Parts: sequence; structure tokens; C-alpha cells
Amino acid sequence: MTAFSLDAPTRRPSAHEIPLAQIDVSKPILFQTDVVGDYFARLRREDPVHYCAESANGAYWSLTKFDHIVQADTNHQALSSDSKWGGIAIQDLNSIEAAVPIEMFIAMDPPKHDQQRRAVSPAVAPGNLKLLEPIIRARAGEILDALPVGEEIDWVDLVAIELTTMTLATLFDFPWAERRKLTRWSDVTTASPETGIVASFEQRRDELLECAMYFKALWDERAKAPPQPDLISMMAHAPATRDMPFVEFMGNLLLLIVGGNDTTRNSISGGVVALNQAPDEYRKLMSDPLARIPGMVSEIIRWQTPITHMRRTALQDVEIGGKTIAKGDKVVMWYLSGNRDDEVIPQPDEFIIDRPNPRHHLSFGFGIHRCMGNRLAELQLRIVWEEIAKRFRQVELVGEPQRTYSNIIRGFTALPVKLHAH
Ligand code: HEM
Repeated sequence: MTAFSLDAPTRRPSAHEIPLAQIDVSKPILFQTDVVGDYFARLRREDPVHYCAESANGAYWSLTKFDHIVQADTNHQALSSDSKWGGIAIQDLNSIEAAVPIEMFIAMDPPKHDQQRRAVSPAVAPGNLKLLEPIIRARAGEILDALPVGEEIDWVDLVAIELTTMTLATLFDFPWAERRKLTRWSDVTTASPETGIVASFEQRRDELLECAMYFKALWDERAKAPPQPDLISMMAHAPATRDMPFVEFMGNLLLLIVGGNDTTRNSISGGVVALNQAPDEYRKLMSDPLARIPGMVSEIIRWQTPITHMRRTALQDVEIGGKTIAKGDKVVMWYLSGNRDDEVIPQPDEFIIDRPNPRHHLSFGFGIHRCMGNRLAELQLRIVWEEIAKRFRQVELVGEPQRTYSNIIRGFTALPVKLHAH
């Protein structure tokens, strides 16, 4: 009897056994069980521009090589992000936006995308980040000082979510005591009943309406007051955004909340997992934390790749890697796979905190939609790691990380750790 037949009824074939045509890398379970890397490795080797004819989200192309992804991400003329074709995730925007129409500039093409992005981007420009740095640092220090040393704690809940939420609250100048509302609204924005975050689409709609009312009140207040360097005030005063319809106002706010939430949260957790899997790198870090942290931050963002993919829709036939993608087709750029492409990144599966050129990765995308908050994300992670290294000689992983059930957010739902003081 072969090993294969022993458990055949329930066993999932491995990435190497399944016929190429049947590979569907969009199944959330592959990410939750952390086996999707094997599928991507096979596609990069055997069929880097891969067509999947049937999936829960219909037919789609997968781009798995670094250079093909850059080629697609910079060709916004032919490959659209517009929500009217389904938007920027493999799951069509309209299928989860049921009952709450939301317009965000990440899911728009030029010229409207460019106008709205220009209006809000000063909030995360270097000058404003300098103003934010001491506030973020002080608040990060308070959160870390309150943690129990030597006891098992959940890093995701007590540290990653808390630190990320506090930065968002700082960016929006959001009422401090109510800041966890931001976390909840971010989770709800991307939730459907199958995620367990909401019980129904009606619940999702009601919570998002509450969010809308809350922000409407903040907006009205700040529109009447003189301009301030927080995101709401900036949008309420900038000519490109101050008269926008309510759905767009809400969409852009939610984009900033969601954009800075799961991504930074999972980078903070991903760093802990990576350092525990590579103890020599942890030692290297602690031998000179201030010098090592800036490079390490970029390496964490590459290694974790908190957003696994962005999707586009072809407005005309496009050739990539010798294949013709037809007008109307769905194209998925798998950043997670491109970041493991050894033709561009040496030893891509290794976590190496002092790589040369560490910002050369795909985690922030490329082209006109390249992450608007990338410098803020790096700043936040730098501060967090500087403050962690000051206080703790080790954040020790003491159990199995629990991973998120999602094909777009790559992250953790729980991470048991123990803190060891210097
Ligand atoms: C866009 C990743 C943090 C705001 C994006 C895109 C990715 C991404 C992949 C789409 C790029 C493309 O289509 O080419 C990340 C990662 C982060 C992070 C990995 C943290 C490690 C943030 C933060 C903010 C933010 C902190 C908050 C200000 C945005 C916005 C867009 C965006 C507004 C839309 C840009 C546009 O369409 O022009 N991000 N992000 N992100 N991100 Fe981030």
C-alpha cells in the first residue's frame, strides 16, 4: 500500500502532486496553514504566469515573478484598479460591499485617483512624520511599560493591535479613550460573515453606518476649525476632497484606517516570528540595535508581505511573460511570491536583517498606487523596535502562531510570547 492511499480520502495533494491546471492559490486555507509558499515556488518554476480557470472568485491569472509584477503594477493604462470592474482584490469589491457602497482612491484610475491621493498624502509626508514621531514614541513606550515580564501573553492583542491602533488614533487625532473603535471598524470593513467577525451583512452595514456618523461629526467639527495636521482636518480643508460625496469621504477614511491597520499590525507580529525562527539574526540585532533596526524593518516588511496580492482587470489584451491576458480578464499580482523570487532577491526564504538594498521588495506595490503610507509604516516599526530593544533582551515565542484565514491579509490572530527584560 502506498503512503498516498493510506489517507487518501481526506489528504490534500501537495503542491508538487497536483496538476498545474488545478492549482488555485487563492484558497484562504493555504495561507492559514502556511503551505502556499510551496505552490508559489512551483508556479515560479513551471508556469510563472498561470491561469486558473475555476475558483471561488472565478477565473484569474496569477503573476508570481518579481519582474512580471512590476510590469503589471506600472501599467495602469491597460490594467485597471477601478471598482466598477471589481476593484483591487481577487474577491470582487461589489460582492462584499453589499449594502454599503464605498468609493476609495485605491480602487480608482487616473485622473480621480491622482487628485484624491494628492489631497491626503501631505498627512504622511516627511514633515508631518517628524511631528508625529515623538508622540508615537511616547505612546509606544507607555504600552510596552505596561506589559508583564516573564508571563505568557498574546502579542497580537496586547502589543501589535494596541500599537497600531494608537498610531491611527494619533494620525486622525481621534478621541483617545475610544480608539479601539478604529480597530473594530477596520476589521468590519474587510469582513464578511464567513470570517466570523460579523454575523451578517446587516450587522456589517449597521456598524459601518455608526462609523460614518462618528466621522461625519468629527469632519463637521474640523471643517469649521482652522486646518490642523491630522488626516480628517486635511481632507476637510483640501480643495480636492472638501466637497466630495459622502460615499467617497467614507471610502477614503476607511482606506486610511484599513491601510494602516492589518498591515502594520501583522508586520509587528511577523517580526517576532521571523526573529524567533532565526536566532542568529536576533543576536545580530541585539549586538547593535540602533544600527540594525532600519534595515531590519524593511526586511520584516518583505519577509512578512502583509498584503499578499493586489488585483487588476485588463482593459485591453496585454502580454506578460509570453502569455496573452485578454481584455476583461482578472490579473492577480502575488507580492508574496514575487518577494520570494530568487532571480531578484538572493536567498529569499531567509530572514536577513542586514541585506544590501533592503527596500527592494514588492510589499508596498509599485507604480501610481504604491503604498501612500510606506514611510509612516517604516517609521512606526522603527520606533516600536527601538523601544522594544531598549526594554527587552528577547521576545520569546512560546507556542504555535495562529495565522489569519485570508488570501489577502497575511497575518496572525494570536502569538503566545514571553518577554525577557535586560
Ligand atoms: C496602498 C501595503 C501601511 C495607506 C497600498 C498597497 C499595498 C500596501 C500593497 C497597494 C499598492 C499597489 O497597488 O501598487 C502596505 C503595507 C503596509 C502599509 C505592507 C505596512 C507594512 C500603510 C499605512 C497607511 C497606508 C500605515 C496609512 C496612511 C495606504 C493607502 C494606499 C495604500 C492610502 C492607496 C494608495 C493609492 O491607491 O494610491 N499599501 N501598506 N498603508 N496604502 Fe499601504
